Formats: sequence, C-alpha cells, structure tokens
Amino acid sequence: MMIDQQYVLELKGISKEFPGVKALDDVTLQVRPGTVHALMGENGAGKSTLMKCLFGIYKQDAGDIYLNGQKVEINSSRDALQMGISMIHQELHPVPFRSVMENIWLGRFPSWWLLFIDHKKMYRDTEALFKQLDIDIKPDTIVGKLSVSKIQSIEIAKAVSFNSKIIVMDEPTSSLTSVEVEHLFKIIQELKSRGVSIIYISHKMEEILQISDEVTIMRDGKKIGTWAAEELTTDLIISKMVGRDLTQRFPPRNNVPNGVVLKVEGLTSIHPKSFNNISFELRRGEILGIGGLVGAQRTELIEALFGLREVQSGSITLNGKMVRIKSAAAAKRHGMALLTEERRTTGIFPVLSVHENAAIANMRRYVRPYLLLNERKKRDEVNEMVTKLRTKTPSPKTLIMNLSGGNQQKVLLARWLLTSPEILLLDEPTRGIDVGAKYEIYTIIADLAQQGKSIIMISSEMPELLGMSDRVMVMSEGRITGILNGSEASEEEIMRLAAQH
Ligand SMILES: Nc1ncnc2c1ncn2[C@@H]1O[C@H](COP(=O)(O)OP(=O)(O)OP(=O)(O)O)[C@@H](O)[C@H]1O
Ligand SMILES: [Mg+2]
Repeated sequence: MMIDQQYVLELKGISKEFPGVKALDDVTLQVRPGTVHALMGENGAGKSTLMKCLFGIYKQDAGDIYLNGQKVEINSSRDALQMGISMIHQELHPVPFRSVMENIWLGRFPSWWLLFIDHKKMYRDTEALFKQLDIDIKPDTIVGKLSVSKIQSIEIAKAVSFNSKIIVMDEPTSSLTSVEVEHLFKIIQELKSRGVSIIYISHKMEEILQISDEVTIMRDGKKIGTWAAEELTTDLIISKMVGRDLTQRFPPRNNVPNGVVLKVEGLTSIHPKSFNNISFELRRGEILGIGGLVGAQRTELIEALFGLREVQSGSITLNGKMVRIKSAAAAKRHGMALLTEERRTTGIFPVLSVHENAAIANMRRYVRPYLLLNERKKRDEVNEMVTKLRTKTPSPKTLIMNLSGGNQQKVLLARWLLTSPEILLLDEPTRGIDVGAKYEIYTIIADLAQQGKSIIMISSEMPELLGMSDRVMVMSEGRITGILNGSEASEEEIMRLAAQH
C-alpha cells in the first residue's frame, strides 16, 4: 500500500525539563518535505532545546519523533546524522587549528589503507562540494584564520556533505551581511529543489517572511501555532511571539550630542590590510553607528580603540588629552567598555554563573572595607541589571552556558553596563536577541546617551543603524568611505558607501 507521506518529520508532544525550567511543554512540529519551516520565539522560548532533542543532544522527557511516518529513537548526534538530520548550531565550534577540509570531514576522512589519510581526495571532495555551493574558500586554509561568516558557510557545506534530508539552521545569518545572506538563500533554494527540508531559526522577521514556507511560533516552551508564511506579517509574528502588541521597534531618543569626547586622527593598523588612516570624532551623548560589510575592519578598529590591537600611527584624544591605550585594563581605566561580537570565544566564562559573568568586569568596585555589605550591594546591582534586560534565567546562580544564546548576550551587556562606562563600544549588540528584548536594549542605549554617555555601535542590521544612530560612519576595506547624519542616512546610501573601494 502506498501512503502519501505529508510530513518528512514530526515531533509530537515533546516535553523537556531542566532544573528550574520547563524548557519544552508538549510541543508538536510537523515539517513537509522540500520546504523551509521557520521556528520563531523570544530568547529562551525553547527553539534550540527542541532542535537539540531532534539532534540527539538532549533526550526529551516525553514525546516522540517520526521520520517519514516511522517512529525513531535518536540517542546521539551520530544517530541523527545517520538518519539524515544535520544541524548547524547557534554557537559554532570548529576546530580552529585544523584546515577547512579537516573540519568538514572530521571523523570520516577518506582513507586508503585505513591508516593513511588521503589528503588529495579530501581536497578534491571539498573543492567539489564548495563549487556546488558557490563557496569561495581554499580547502586547506586554517579555520582559525577565517571570519565568522566563512566558518558559517563551512558548517553549511558540512551539513550538505552528509546528504541530509533535514537541515536545522539555528540562527545561520546572525553574523552574515546582506550579500552573504542572499548567497545563503540561494543555497537554501538549491537544497529545497533537491527535496531537502530546512528548519530555520532566526529573529529576523524580514528574512523569515522572505525565505520560509511555514512558520511555527513558540512562547515559554509552548507551541503557539503554525502558519503559512504568506498569512503572516512582521506585526502579526511579533504579537504572537511576545503575546502583546509592540507598536514601535525603536524607542524615542532625547539625547543631545555636544562637545567632543573622543577624537581619532589618522589611526592606522600595523597590518597593511586592516584599518587605515581613520579620523573621526565622537561627541558626548552621541550614538555613532558604524556600517559596512564583513571585512570592513570595523571590529578591528574598535578593538584598537580598546587597546587590543597595535596601531602603527595616528592618535587618540580622550577629553582633550592625547592617550595611548595599550591594554584592555587601560581602556577600562579610561572609562571605556567593549561588548565583543563573538561571545563564545571572547565573551562568556561558560562554567561561571550568570551572576559571576555579569559581575566580573566590575569586581574592584565592590572590595572592602565593608565586605559583607558590598557583597550584598554587588548582588543587588547585578541582579537588578540582569532583570532590567529581561534576562531569562532560573536563578542568578545558573551557569551561563545553560542559558539560551540571546540570554547569554544580555548577561554580557549587563556586565559592561555595570562598569558605568563613559564610552561604550558595542559590536553587534543585538545579535541573536529577540524583538522584545532588542527594544529593551535600544531603550538602555538611548537612556545612556541621554545621560551623556557616548556610544559607538557596529551593526550589520540596517534598520538598527538607521533607527538608533545620530550619525552613521561607513567603512569599506579598512577606510572610512563616508559619515552620514542620521537624517540624511538611508539604506541605499549606506550600501553604496559600504561597497565603495
Ligand atoms: N542545558 C541546560 N540546562 C539548564 N537550562 C537550560 C539548558 N538548555 C536550555 N535551558 C533553558 O531552557 C530554556 C530554553 O532555552 P533555548 O536555548 O531552547 O531557547 P531559545 O528559544 O533557543 O532562545 P534564543 O533565541 O535565545 O537562542 C531557557 O530558559 C534556557 O535557560
Ligand atoms: Mg537558541
């Protein structure tokens, strides 16, 4: 008897509890073959946990998984891969000192004669795979040298190389620029036409509406519903996700920039391909956005301001005094704070608690002479900040690695806000953060600016750059190609400057 199989994958009644949290409560997800099924919900809604149950990383407490109508037991990632399920994780962990091809074929090297690894075949296979996906990376490049976006394309190639029928992408575009997103979407279309189903997790509404066929929305571990993408609008998705209407995506700003806090003149990296001859001013109470494509050297520039990268020439003047900042500690003493873009590698301390992660940049403020009192003061301040950012954590004592991706980001932001900096350097501050919480973060940034703090914000999200900046500075290939006033900035103008050589 032929059965017309409507769903390639069904997760039925999945529940999963962690100490103190019901991460999933009777969730059902049905995915049709050859479609993109988006999974949406606020930070901590349970999206990644559901996918980890599918991928054999967690064992669900209740519920079943069906593949092509057959009930299956998935007890490990190896099981999942064998059954044709791949997952590109929210936090990438490649092996940095190995080559690109080794990262792809790790554990399944093509070998002749068991002991020998056939590097030539591996190179050829990787090349063929990349060609198919239109990825431009040499297979023998060491992964540690690549940008986040390149690493992401390698992860996608890896998933494809397993010949998977279902590919889970957990926030695949969080570190991609628009051109790279278009490229990813082409790959997704290609996969779809081969009958592959994609489960696509993202916080970016415009992308979801563009790429997906169906959308499932979750809130607080529960499924709210599944809709055809064409039935939805950004506003509808938001209200279903947050459970209330969110009328505006950006808060009103009442900051009045005045006086110069930071003056950068002719700043040039010791690396010839990095930032070059950078001159700009940052005013007190100003939000200066930095736009550009990946590779524009924006991160390198603000890391140099923070004393993390060597400069060959140029000067930095802080409050009228020329300074040389040679370490992060020195930068902190000068009232600067830096929120880095890659929280896994440079940000969080995974085995410390939420509380400790938030407090760590700020220990000096709480020492002596009233140890006990200060301990309590610290606890209260940290908790207040963590709550203000609407961080979802069972308790401040929970290990940060057990928080959802977006919530980890909020703890890091709390860490730097607690140092009461004069100048905040933010590198993609809302990456991976849901709409509701984004609004909270924007509100905090706007408040800080109003209090006279100065903010430099790198962002690859156009609406964010336009919605939050007093001025937008655009960089391309290490140089400033333009500085636009907020009022005259437009998406087109920023793109034009970002692509200028
Ligand atoms: N290993 C774990 N131990 C304890 N709690 C966990 C663990 N993994 C997830 N949680 C909790 O389960 C809930 C759901 O987290 P999950 O990572 O699935 O959220 P998410 O929807 O992917 O959010 P985000 O958009 O921030 O990535 C959160 O409250 C999180 O703190
Ligand atoms: Mg997640």
